Amino acid sequence: MTQTILQKNPHKKITILTCYDFPTARALDSSDLDIIFVGDSVGTNVLGYRSEMEVTLEDMIHHLKAVRKGVTSKTLMVDLPYNTYRSKGEAVKNARLLKNKGANIVKLEGGAEIAAIAQAIVAAKIPTMGHIGFQPQIAQTAKRTVVGASAEDAVSLYEDARALQQSGVCAVVLECVPEMVAKEITDRLSVPTIGIGSGKYTDGQVLVYCDVVGWYNLPYRFVKRYDSFFERTITAANRFVQEVDHDLYPQRNHGFRIKADQLKSFKNSI
Ligand code: KIV
Repeated sequence: MTQTILQKNPHKKITILTCYDFPTARALDSSDLDIIFVGDSVGTNVLGYRSEMEVTLEDMIHHLKAVRKGVTSKTLMVDLPYNTYRSKGEAVKNARLLKNKGANIVKLEGGAEIAAIAQAIVAAKIPTMGHIGFQPQIAQTAKRTVVGASAEDAVSLYEDARALQQSGVCAVVLECVPEMVAKEITDRLSVPTIGIGSGKYTDGQVLVYCDVVGWYNLPYRFVKRYDSFFERTITAANRFVQEVDHDLYPQRNHGFRIKADQLKSFKNSI
């Protein structure tokens, strides 16, 4: 049973950004993105954790609830975090929980070794995305390394992708895979591939929102910074400080009034 929630389209790439909070969800819901994604990268990007291994199911539900409130028109995907899909039963129970909290797709990491688990989630009628190549949950480090750079590793990656496709996933994320390996895998799968640091030939691309808007200073070379929120936030904060210092904020229109007789009476009573 293959899930057809996503389809390959040679004329239109699938685009996904992570999202961890309500205001960002509102903005991204009004964008041209296809999928908004509560990734377990919330740990390192928002919660100050050292790796994805520290992220709990409770963390994911907390952020999913906030994002769900801001997403009304897009598909919403959520990561099953580390150690929450060790058996079929555990995986289905937790995927169901995320679905009931508003997830349209759940994503999990791993290749052939988790294909039976992915299949169990799919059989429970929960759209599921696979994730192979660099797997942050087991890497135990935020540092990214390339996976599939030898012929042997590339074959194993291809076999993982095939096993996931066979399990019925709706798409497979390829993280930090050499571009031409990602292309060959993409050409041979019937479900879409979503690349991150894997070149331009995948059926879609996913990035971490914080990297795209510039909260951080280009942590990885495959990331592109499209804005500079870090610098712009400092500028806005400093303008606020200056205007308060120079009596330019607040102005009359920012405040509320009391009638003169009421003020007089107030003053007389204190
Ligand atoms: O959690 C995450 O950010 C991911 C990447 C694929 C973007 O899984």
